[in-house]
Amino acid sequence: MKTVSAEEMNKQAEFSDRVKNMMAHRSPKALVITYGCQQNENDSERIRGMLAVMGYTFTENKEEADLILYNTCAVREGAEQRVLGNIGALVHEKRRRPELLIGLCGCMAQQEHMAKTIKSKYRHVSLVFGTHSLHKFPQLLYEALLDDKRVFSVEDSEGVIAEDVPMYRTGDPKAWVSVMYGCNNFCTYCIVPYVRGRERSRQPERVLGEIKGLVAQGVTEISLLGQNVNAYGKDLEEDIDFADLLRMVNSIPGVRRIRFMTSHPKDISERLITAMAECDKVMPQLHLPFQAGSDRILKAMNRHYNQAQYLDLVRRVREKMPDITLTTDIIVGFPNESAEDFEETIKVLEAVRFDSVFSFIYSKRKGTPAAEIDDKVTDDEKHKRFDRLLEVQNRISREINDACFGKTYELLVEGESKTDKDMLTGRTPGGKIINFPKKNGIKTGDYVTVTVNKTNTWSLSGSLTEN
Ligand code: SAH
Ligand code: SF4
Ligand code: F3S
Repeated sequence: MKTVSAEEMNKQAEFSDRVKNMMAHRSPKALVITYGCQQNENDSERIRGMLAVMGYTFTENKEEADLILYNTCAVREGAEQRVLGNIGALVHEKRRRPELLIGLCGCMAQQEHMAKTIKSKYRHVSLVFGTHSLHKFPQLLYEALLDDKRVFSVEDSEGVIAEDVPMYRTGDPKAWVSVMYGCNNFCTYCIVPYVRGRERSRQPERVLGEIKGLVAQGVTEISLLGQNVNAYGKDLEEDIDFADLLRMVNSIPGVRRIRFMTSHPKDISERLITAMAECDKVMPQLHLPFQAGSDRILKAMNRHYNQAQYLDLVRRVREKMPDITLTTDIIVGFPNESAEDFEETIKVLEAVRFDSVFSFIYSKRKGTPAAEIDDKVTDDEKHKRFDRLLEVQNRISREINDACFGKTYELLVEGESKTDKDMLTGRTPGGKIINFPKKNGIKTGDYVTVTVNKTNTWSLSGSLTEN
């Protein structure tokens, strides 16, 4: 059974009570540090939710935390090295305060070799659990607190769905809602299918119920989340796909904006494009990773589309939604990518003109097929290509942003600007960030209209439009 039973969830609620009683005299504080994608952010909301029920409050300060938990990402080596560096540095704090509990969870923990490394080399880490054990966190924490034994729960699994895990949210007007978990695509470079299990969809009524609950708390923007949302429903008995789900969410009163990610180009159907165009609350934004421009590399990546098909998809999307914001992910330096292959990636950038691009240098992931390829391309060459790609895309982003000058957009106010405390920041329907001067009476969660009066490569500024 894919869904965790009510009996198991009740058992976890009992462990939760036990931890609460055990720790009550200490007013315990927790620090949860999250790496990786929105899926992980969403998992951290659940971890904080479970901790809140167990009587924990939250701190940003390592020195006053009773529990420090790293929710980790394994998608590239850099992210893993940073986590290992940070937990390595905690060894002194643990020596100073032996009662401090240090834990590591998420995608890194789900890899067998990594769990072994933590076990043997990071002995001050006493709680390690993978993505499949998230709902058992109360029990695992209880066991780790009970005596000095180290607790590891990292068994491989196809994955489960755990409903009704408590959530801790910060009063943000935006919320992430997972519609499905896992991935079946096995792109040859990618670790995600190994650490997140197989594709599994939540029941539509669960998704809709969660969204209604969020709306009741004041949330107006919903982002539907999954590694490949277009596969939604394939594993459900009910005859339903992602286009149907979008239409259902679109009809929930109180929801004003709907976004979703990520879409695999091979799975975007005409039905979905039509649903996006027809649903007034679905925002004109699409994140459509193409990864590489060369057909040879796309094949080696196991992506199941070629450049011509990708460009045709973009054309069909823009035909129905001419103003759509398009973003993408690109990998530079897949094993044995030639200079000509890389030129094809640049060609796609120039042809599509994405609003923004998330680009990554290929990182070898143990256990994936691409890791077995004897790669002849030097790091130096890969970095040169990466810089070239940034240069091309920066120019395009700048030109697209410059063209926004003088245009008026509706923004959802997200809070103070990170770079200027006299400014507020909000997002356009297409998902672009615009900063504008603070004004009495305007607060986070409001919808305002702003006209762009300054543009640069990474951001836009504007002034409030008086109505
Ligand atoms: N499910 C999403 C993305 C998941 S990972 C999708 O399919 O689009 C986010 C991005 O990380 C990927 O789109 C890819 O560009 C990048 N990525 C994944 N594995 C990588 C690796 N081994 N090296 C470098 N980048 C990688
Ligand atoms: Fe990784 Fe590919 Fe799955 Fe995305 S679709 S998570 S890149 S295997
Ligand atoms: Fe990273 Fe896991 Fe997300 S590997 S990208 S945190 S699914």
